Amino acid sequence: MNTIALVGAQWGDEGKGKYIDILASTADYVVRATGGSNAGHTVVRGDKAYKLHLIPSGILYPETVNIIGNGVVLDPKVVLQEMDELAKQGVKFDNLLMDLRAHIVLPYHKEFDELAEIAKGANAIGTTKRGIGPCYADKCDRIGIRLVDLLDENLFAQKLKQNIRLKNKIITAVYGGKPLDYDEIYTEYCGYAKRLQPFACDTGAVVYDAVKADKRVVFEGAQGTLLDLDSGTYPFVTSSHPITGGFCAGAGVGPTAIKECLGIAKSYTTRVGAGPFPTELDDEVGAHLRDVGHEYGVTTGRARRCGWLDAVILRLAVRINGLTSLAINKLDPLSGLKTIKVAVGYELNGKCVKDFPADISILEKCTPVYEEFEGWTEDITSCRRFEDLPKAAQKYILAIEKAVDCPVTMIGVGPDKEQNIVR
Ligand code: GDP
Ligand code: IMO
Ligand code: MG
Repeated sequence: MNTIALVGAQWGDEGKGKYIDILASTADYVVRATGGSNAGHTVVRGDKAYKLHLIPSGILYPETVNIIGNGVVLDPKVVLQEMDELAKQGVKFDNLLMDLRAHIVLPYHKEFDELAEIAKGANAIGTTKRGIGPCYADKCDRIGIRLVDLLDENLFAQKLKQNIRLKNKIITAVYGGKPLDYDEIYTEYCGYAKRLQPFACDTGAVVYDAVKADKRVVFEGAQGTLLDLDSGTYPFVTSSHPITGGFCAGAGVGPTAIKECLGIAKSYTTRVGAGPFPTELDDEVGAHLRDVGHEYGVTTGRARRCGWLDAVILRLAVRINGLTSLAINKLDPLSGLKTIKVAVGYELNGKCVKDFPADISILEKCTPVYEEFEGWTEDITSCRRFEDLPKAAQKYILAIEKAVDCPVTMIGVGPDKEQNIVR
């Protein structure tokens, strides 16, 4: 078997887009299995940057089959806009497939996302407002509309009418909002259906055949482990399972179809939106990382919260995803810092906490226990071999490897796919 899953090991934005692009150069298939247009992946090729939300990050290789699996919540408007933008950059979609079972994000999902965030007030999650939570909620509630339903005009009309009737009652009576217009939405989405039809198929069967034929299949993660609905910092999480286990359900394959699992982590930590973040830096070091690392969201443009690397959350990522290797990305923004810290554990009431707490109110009381490392001043963006890195940077990587008990096989030193060290 020749398959690999690539998963975010922190709170997202670890640089998954770059590593998918690297892995896709030798892949026959790239399969996105979870999340939706909340994701924002960046692929940099020379002076060109591609921003991807729903289209798999292997799309720049015309021979590679790129699949949007059943576990993705598909926003037809966003995906078609994204395709139009990419087409202007010369990207072709002859090898793009979308699963018939993928649930469709509709205007009421975005409306509910917005209204629920306002209603939560100080407890707002800080979602991307892309309708992700409400769409997955409808899927669980068994009232969702899938691509297969959207493609059947009569079935779509029936399901949409029923849902809009219900959603409008909640929008007006609970939130005091404006009702949505059925006819307008129906006509608009029937138009999208026509454009999506050529890409629709049972992608689970395609992936299964590819795995059986020993093709190189890369499962593309979105979001990150700490945003997982079960294992993350609930309720400050997304509404899907952006972990290896989630890729099986979301790509329609069994766990034995995934041979290796590569986790992507930054050499420090970032987070967008609300929720606990033990190693967060509210000082000039945090501001420095945001500045030098250009830590601003691809999807919403929001400034990312920045902090030191946290080995406790990386150990959680190793465990939950069954990581077989780790890429430590964005090592270059650490250049110039006198001292670099890594949280190796947490302390609570004088006791050592080794495992990530389930209760976020306990997590908020935890103090990180830091190990300190000497920094380096050299520009490392041209390093291509581990031995080229300053000794202090090598020591930092080896210490991470030891603290998280997972081999670090790649190190990112710049946004371009060439700016990577393979060990
Ligand atoms: P993703 O969501 O995990 O794909 O990550 P994002 O694209 O949201 O954020 C990663 C950002 O860091 C993007 O702007 C990338 O171009 C950039 N990036 C990726 N790898 C590196 C690296 O090694 N060094 C630097 N300085 N930037 C990087
Ligand atoms: P990529 O794939 C970083 C965060 C949001 C918010 C929480 C819930 O680019 O790594 P949602 O809209 O999903 O209901 O928001 O999850 N979030 C991300 N943060 N990177 C992402 O994706 C994210 N997708 C969702 O900021 O805190
Ligand atoms: Mg991102």
